[in-house]
Amino acid sequence: MMAREAGLKRTMIRMAGAALLAGGILGSGIAVAQDNMAVIEARKEALKRAGASMKAIQGFVREGSGSAEDVQKAVAVLVEVSGGMPTWFPEGTAQGVGKSEALPAIWQNRADFDKKVVAFQTEAKNFVPIAAGGDRAAIGKQLGAVGGTCKACHDSYKAD
Ligand code: HEC
Repeated sequence: MMAREAGLKRTMIRMAGAALLAGGILGSGIAVAQDNMAVIEARKEALKRAGASMKAIQGFVREGSGSAEDVQKAVAVLVEVSGGMPTWFPEGTAQGVGKSEALPAIWQNRADFDKKVVAFQTEAKNFVPIAAGGDRAAIGKQLGAVGGTCKACHDSYKAD
């Protein structure tokens, strides 16, 4: 092989390598974007379930609808949802991506946001023995405590 030909071949191999690399980076960028969309959809689904649970408990407290067992099930959902929350807000999932209503402030005040997640987790866990007790007044009181943690976070970090 002549020296010039060998040089050309090397150049072509380099170019092919660069194209592959660019393709790989682009490909993984798309994969990340799809992951973020899935994360947003999943957390919205979970938070909807939390909302439905709060409504069910409210029905029990205010109108005596459902049973104490239903309240326990609803509280279990709150514990589950609050437990998942720490991993549901990766960078790249703020308002503007998909249907996200998560304000960019979450990533500017991450420590405060995380504290509000913990407050929700704590009050949801505190709810377990109270729900098991079945006392309507006590359940109503704890419903208020949990509701306060939802509101505290939404006021700062959820678009309305
Ligand atoms: C630490 C912060 C935080 C806490 C605590 C929290 N939320 Fe949210 N919630 C959010 C954010 C941020 C969004 C917007 C998520 C999105 O659009 O991707 C949201 C969205 C929602 C939605 C809308 C879901 C949809 O369909 O778009 C509901 C319903 C909801 N939350 C209910 C609750 C309830 C009920 C509680 C308490 C039991 C709660 N949240 C606690 C931050 C929080």
